[in-house]
Amino acid sequence: MNTSASTSSAATLPRIAVLATGGTIAGSAPDASNTAGYQAGVIGVAQLLAAVPGLDAIAHIHAGQVASIDSKDMSLALWSTLAQRVNELLASDEIDGVVITHGTDTLEETAYCLHLAVKSAKPCVLTAAMRPASALSADGPLNLLNAVTLAASGAAAGQGVLVAFNNRIHCARDVVKVSTYAVDAFQSPEVGALGWVQDGRVEFQRKALRPHTVDTPFAAPAQWPLVEIVASYAGVSRVAVDALVAAGVRGIVVAGTGNGSIHGAVQQALADAAARGVAVVRASRVGSGHVMHNGAAKDDALGFVSAGTLNPYKARVLLLLALAAGIGEKAALQRLFDTY
Ligand code: SIN
Repeated sequence: MNTSASTSSAATLPRIAVLATGGTIAGSAPDASNTAGYQAGVIGVAQLLAAVPGLDAIAHIHAGQVASIDSKDMSLALWSTLAQRVNELLASDEIDGVVITHGTDTLEETAYCLHLAVKSAKPCVLTAAMRPASALSADGPLNLLNAVTLAASGAAAGQGVLVAFNNRIHCARDVVKVSTYAVDAFQSPEVGALGWVQDGRVEFQRKALRPHTVDTPFAAPAQWPLVEIVASYAGVSRVAVDALVAAGVRGIVVAGTGNGSIHGAVQQALADAAARGVAVVRASRVGSGHVMHNGAAKDDALGFVSAGTLNPYKARVLLLLALAAGIGEKAALQRLFDTY
């Protein structure tokens, strides 16, 4: 598929809400060559917008500050607030699209949560930056310009939640952070970006196939279930799984080795947890590829669900939303992982 669009004429500018949550894009360091020793989330949305020349030729901007955090501290309560705010804005006849500025560290989790919990076909685009706003060659202003350009383009409608970063357009389900420092920090492993945005032009080269937004049964709840992630690695014990079960965990995602294989000690602990009603999802720590359901002899016997192409962090998002929607039975969960 190849869909392209340019920005609208001044008379019919789209109305785009820009919601700021913090992150490095809103970060400030003591000097311009400092790109690591900065404080994230200290610059407000008005200053972020003021650093982007030409925005007012692309859209009428409605600015809002939802949070001012380093996204390592993202909370489930803030996801609920954000989803509610986005849903209200997109339901309004006064708004044509939403852009969210976010930290890069948990962007992929927030984006996937919104991809499942936003109930609108209007554009919703997340963006971020790897360099603080105070840095030489800060990447935030161009990323923000491109995110607004994308949200203002008709081509973004109905594509689910998108991530605009370093000129590329990614699907929220696929995108992951792949570098601790590089400006080209996001990729969509196996599938690639959906398209690109550059110099006011938006071009989609493919379309995501999995259902999202208006085509899911999910909503960000007021109360979230306890769902955690454990990893499998050489010499791991069952201590963490048993502690989580004792703490009343409702779901556990395991970041397994290879094709979601699990060390025997942890596998037994997870099977015991599943037998006690905990939802157990098998994902992989590898970073690309998929974890296939391995049938009667393994997953079915042990009570596990396989995560498919979702990494452990995104698998946790889907499991959180599924349990919050009252879906916890193993076969029903497997259908969700096979579908979304
Ligand atoms: C954060 O995630 O808030 C800090 C790191 C970043 O935005 O790059």
